[in-house]
Amino acid sequence: MNKTNKVLIVDDVAENRKLLASIIARETDCTVMMAANGSVVLELIENEIPDLILLDIMMPDMDGYEVAQSLKEKESTQEIPIVFITSMTDMESKIMAFKKGGVDYITKPFNKNELLARVNAQLKLKNLQDELKSKNKMLSDREIHLTHLVEEKTRKIGKVTHALVTALENANLFNDNDTGNHIRRVSEYSALLAEAYGADREFVKRIRLFASLHDVGKVGIPDSILKKPGKYDPEEFEQMKQHVVIGARMLGSGEIDPMAKNIALYHHEKWNGTGYVQGLSGDAIPLEARIVTIADVYDALVTERVYKEAFSREKAEEIIGRERGKHFDPDLTDLFFEKSDVIHEIKNSLK
Ligand SMILES: [Fe+2]
Ligand SMILES: [Fe+2]
Repeated sequence: MNKTNKVLIVDDVAENRKLLASIIARETDCTVMMAANGSVVLELIENEIPDLILLDIMMPDMDGYEVAQSLKEKESTQEIPIVFITSMTDMESKIMAFKKGGVDYITKPFNKNELLARVNAQLKLKNLQDELKSKNKMLSDREIHLTHLVEEKTRKIGKVTHALVTALENANLFNDNDTGNHIRRVSEYSALLAEAYGADREFVKRIRLFASLHDVGKVGIPDSILKKPGKYDPEEFEQMKQHVVIGARMLGSGEIDPMAKNIALYHHEKWNGTGYVQGLSGDAIPLEARIVTIADVYDALVTERVYKEAFSREKAEEIIGRERGKHFDPDLTDLFFEKSDVIHEIKNSLK
């Protein structure tokens, strides 16, 4: 350690101060500071923090214990080791000295070599502690820096994901009759239902992002089917069903959040197992898909499609209610009705 240690000598008797100061100055590399009483100590340490204090106990006004106590109460000085130096040799004084935070106790008259050995031992300890502290500080600074880096990268990945989702939405919208606002609304209803269901913030954020891709697989369905005004014949319907498989294939890369694929693949499954294409039922259908299902169907009901007029809110809600436990998860259906006013508001604000 290159730094010069500072030792503060506190004694009301000038001769004692000088004696101690001359020993420390002569026999060690330390810089010596001196104070004749407690108030001088408290003033001194405002500007300079010593590495060790040699503190007399019996002094007028503030005694050594009181000085020690006020140093221990201050954050900036509480770690300075204090060695009491006193002519009091009784056990009680010694115990009191340690109670007040002293690290050592030297009785007067002292032996010069013993004094130096004790002072050096305490300084060595203090220097090691300082070193450890600055290493820890360096480590935590580095940790903070790394955390910032990770956060920045995460933000960047989030932005890229958003951009890719938007690109896919646009591809979807180019060849489908659905409007951009249909997928916005489905996203918002889904986020609302997920929140009402008690999903955590991250889940809500993800479902808001990926719900819009539920029909992205329609890019693989021929226009003649997609834009057919009337009802599908069975063969056309089979072909139409493939949009969920195509969507799942588009979003199935391991690098994409699996929620995206789950929504695309399972948003036509029904709670009672009569949906497509897997025929899953109940909890086997991922929550995100069960949510998007009810959001998507409701929005299809209340908006005009090539094959139908827009239904009124009442009629659409009646249909949703009838399908509780059949097409839809019963719990989510209940939540849907709890939130139906907000859902209606979303519908009107995203026309
Ligand atoms: Fe669909
Ligand atoms: Fe849809």
